[in-house]
Amino acid sequence: MPLIEIEHLTKDYGHNRGIFDVSFSIEKGEVYGYLGPNGAGKTSTIRHIMGFSRPQKGHSLVNGLNSWEHASEIQKNLGYLPGEIALPESLTGNQFIKMMAELRGITDMTHTKNLIRKFELDPAGSLKRMSLGMKRKLAIVTAFMHDPAVLVLDEPTSGLDPIMQALFIEFIKEEKEKGKTILISSHIFSEIDATCDKISIIKDGRLISSFVADDLRHNEIKTFKIEFKTEESFNRFDREGKAHEKWEALSLTPHKHQALLRIHDNDINAFISFIADYEVKFFSEIKFTLEDYFMKFYDRRNIQAAGGAEPDAVYPNQ
Ligand SMILES: Nc1ncnc2c1ncn2[C@@H]1O[C@H](COP(=O)(O)OP(=O)(O)O)[C@@H](O)[C@H]1O
Ligand SMILES: [Mg+2]
Repeated sequence: MPLIEIEHLTKDYGHNRGIFDVSFSIEKGEVYGYLGPNGAGKTSTIRHIMGFSRPQKGHSLVNGLNSWEHASEIQKNLGYLPGEIALPESLTGNQFIKMMAELRGITDMTHTKNLIRKFELDPAGSLKRMSLGMKRKLAIVTAFMHDPAVLVLDEPTSGLDPIMQALFIEFIKEEKEKGKTILISSHIFSEIDATCDKISIIKDGRLISSFVADDLRHNEIKTFKIEFKTEESFNRFDREGKAHEKWEALSLTPHKHQALLRIHDNDINAFISFIADYEVKFFSEIKFTLEDYFMKFYDRRNIQAAGGAEPDAVYPNQ
């Protein structure tokens, strides 16, 4: 049974805003990336998972319990990091931590203290005067302090400096090792790429793609850049090598003596044999990233929307 299951979740705020027929599920031990630009519907979805918002259609289940019907139980047990952090400004950081510990029945503060140390949180001052980054760290500590099995993190690294962002990514990997189930929303490709097993991309309130991250990383058709040492070699390749049944030249850059090629894993040996008597300066793979996929996916949808042809596959920008 999935620990988080969303089916046909719909909340129409009018003017084409909201979330529409969103479905995905997260199995125990998975880190799930929820990727989309600002205003795409990430927070709206998460608010339904937490039971803050009632769907018009569809439902969200956490551990088999309906989020709206069992909101207080879900909110008590889940580790939740809100996208926009609203803290009681009259309290100090320490008072807030104490309040959250009492709410969750935590008596042993060892784990909480470790988190405070790890994220270099200074909880002494009043919340009113805390910087955005410090508030974010406080929210991280309180999301993880009861060592929850399921975590829902809404843009967890926004407001953190790059060192803290890297630390947080390492922390998520450690939590994953411990078997935690984690949903992370983000508009930052690299942190989703670094941490997630599965990914859904949301745009304008609708899921436009869901996939296993490794399928993308292990794409069998790869892009390579080759540079020839001499103009003569380049011209010969232009004449004899660019059109071939086993590879495809995506582009040629004559003044650099370079070509960009698309080759299936099975045909790389054939290509290397072919190129052996050419004078080659270098031959390297252009890594396909999640960002390339994300951007190309958007491009493709835009082409379709404009009535153009849809390419048969998605390749990196070059
Ligand atoms: N309570 C609400 N009432 C009206 N519109 C809302 C409400 N909550 C969100 N929206 C709108 O729904 C869209 C998705 O918002 P949101 O889920 O916050 O996006 P994200 O978290 O991906 O940036 C936005 O256009 C936002 O303005
Ligand atoms: Mg948001």
